[in-house]
Amino acid sequence: MPVPTLTPAAVRAAAEKLPRVRLAHLPTPLEELPRFAAKIGGGVRVFIKRDDCTGLVLGGNKARHNEFLFGDALASGADMFVWGALVQSNNCRTTAAACAKLGLECRLYLSRAHQKTEPQGNLLLDYLVGAHVEFTDLKIGPELNSLIASKAAEFRAAGRKPYFWDPPRVVPLSAVSYALCMAEIAEQLAALRLAPSAFYVSSAGATGAGVALGKALLGFACPARLICPMHWPWDIPARMADDANAAAERMGLPHRLAPSDLDADESFIAPGYGIPSPAGQEAMHLLATTEAILTDHVYTAKALAALIADVRAGKYPRGSSVVFIHTGGVPAIFAEPDKVLPGM
Ligand SMILES: Cc1ncc(COP(=O)(O)O)c(C=O)c1O
Repeated sequence: MPVPTLTPAAVRAAAEKLPRVRLAHLPTPLEELPRFAAKIGGGVRVFIKRDDCTGLVLGGNKARHNEFLFGDALASGADMFVWGALVQSNNCRTTAAACAKLGLECRLYLSRAHQKTEPQGNLLLDYLVGAHVEFTDLKIGPELNSLIASKAAEFRAAGRKPYFWDPPRVVPLSAVSYALCMAEIAEQLAALRLAPSAFYVSSAGATGAGVALGKALLGFACPARLICPMHWPWDIPARMADDANAAAERMGLPHRLAPSDLDADESFIAPGYGIPSPAGQEAMHLLATTEAILTDHVYTAKALAALIADVRAGKYPRGSSVVFIHTGGVPAIFAEPDKVLPGM
């Protein structure tokens, strides 16, 4: 039996079953980018969902994620967070910020692989909000995850109640928050009487899983282009479908996605994760100089480059509208100015 599409209010009602702490500035604005759209040509209207303005120390997608993660943590009696990723992790910065706001201790294990450890960008902010930082040479992914799990076990043995970066638990909850973001966008588009031709977002994980789930729940027929910032050693669409389905399950909804429902595109990663691409640089400078909106070289500029490439390739008819979901990440540009303005 086909599953029904839902109204934005019904998506929100489904998420209300889950514990949540209000942390983000919501709803974020949906703004049109007329000068940017005119520059890229093709007669397509471009809208931006300003999730770079979610608050929690300089915004980004993790502020939405954290509403559900901290809800889960507080409901389970946690008194500290044990988290980790790369030194310039937006995720860790936002988690440290939420810990500060809620009075929880934050322990960060940061992989310094190829990243400087001067206090700049996200790392500076981690220190500023009072996180305890330790560096490691372990790679992000399974290696770092097992270090974090073992540190959490040590804290538990010492009588603490740690909530830790445990992907099967935290990724589906994070995805729920982006199904809700899609409900927010659906209402904003309806108020403008617009039907979108595509969504774009930077993701190879929770955010994309949530965007794809939200698209399915709300019945958007257009593509949701998930522009991967990095390659993982697993099948990204299959993992995202699993996470989207686990999110739907937590919301008590019968909707399920197949890997083929996830339009994950790895073709904008080159020359590598965190290394700027010429197309990303063009996108970053175009958006900054036409609309005074910042992107970052690791995530959002490359996703915006995909939007530009598709519009220039004539994928969307003149007069149609596309939506770029800005996931934040801006603090990283201060840590790596040489990658943002090469030659200066
Ligand atoms: C700025 C920014 N955009 C997008 C992403 C991708 O998010 P996710 O892992 O939820 O897919 C990240 C992840 O760290 C990020 O920091």
